[in-house]
Amino acid sequence: MSEQSAPSTQSVFRDGLLRGQVALVTGGGTGIGLGISELLAQLGAHVVLASRTAEHVEKAAQSIRDAGGSASAETLDVRDPERVNGVVKKIAAERGRIDVLVNNAAGNFYAPSESLSPNAWRSVIEIDLYGTFFCSQAVLPVMKTQGGGRIVSISMTLHYRGWPLMAHATAAKAGIDALTRTLALEWAPWGVRMNAIAPGPIPTEGVRKAFTPPPAAGGQVPDVFAAEKAMESYARKAIPAGRWGTPRDIANMVAFLASPAGEWITGAIMVVDGGEWLAKNPAPQMQRP
Ligand code: HXC
Repeated sequence: MSEQSAPSTQSVFRDGLLRGQVALVTGGGTGIGLGISELLAQLGAHVVLASRTAEHVEKAAQSIRDAGGSASAETLDVRDPERVNGVVKKIAAERGRIDVLVNNAAGNFYAPSESLSPNAWRSVIEIDLYGTFFCSQAVLPVMKTQGGGRIVSISMTLHYRGWPLMAHATAAKAGIDALTRTLALEWAPWGVRMNAIAPGPIPTEGVRKAFTPPPAAGGQVPDVFAAEKAMESYARKAIPAGRWGTPRDIANMVAFLASPAGEWITGAIMVVDGGEWLAKNPAPQMQRP
């Protein structure tokens, strides 16, 4: 199981909750996607982990199998609709169904919009927004045939007020929110529920790096716990719930939405962030010229 999972690997859900079901998790090999894949497998689903990096998903699928779960891996760039359709058809042919799709694959980086190249803009919009649409559209015929399904897409909270240096990602995630509501309405008659989750801060490698102070000067012994201390201080100040999130926090919401407990929930965007966005200070000011 991933080191970022909640301290206890015990699930709050009942054993076998998703037994017999098939879930496809894009970007399922690392971070939040891995946490989601692990929990769905723990609850009895067969999980197909899909991402561009074969090594990530193969290793993660093996670790789930080693822990007693059922998982397989597919190499997939969600920007390629033909490949998306091919992978979905393969899963449906091999497993007979797809009950849950988690649109988790995402790309992101901080960059000034002024100098964002067309390809940089396109990359993030295509991975996040087009990828979510292509995967959702591809599983629809399978879900229709089997009488329904659940789609959960990973969004964010930064577009609620805007966030400098993230025009591409905030635009893509706002698009995901719009898609969630629109497809929820269009696809409800077929029993397909479409929801999104907006996660708060989860300490990924990039976040840890951002909290790591520059190397100590003049031969001073570096404080190896500096990043942890800075992160703890951020949690105390900025996250009303008092701690950083874990992939398990997000996975729990996916499992809830995928379970019968979520039966009457569609078109919803669930914020899972310990209250961070409500309490957030205004976005950082850009320097005036
Ligand atoms: C400016 C950048 C850049 C940067 C890449 N580009 N990084 N421009 N600043 N820091 C530009 C490149 O120069 C290139 O444009 C274009 O983006 C495409 O880059 P490639 O590396 O060729 O593309 P690709 O291999 O498709 O990579 C996609 C990617 C990459 C998004 C750029 O970062 C990626 O694969 N990321 C996946 C992992 C990831 O980002 N995970 C974060 C998800 S978390 P040119 O013009 O030179 O060709 C998340 C939640 C965020 O989304 C919450 C935040 C708080």
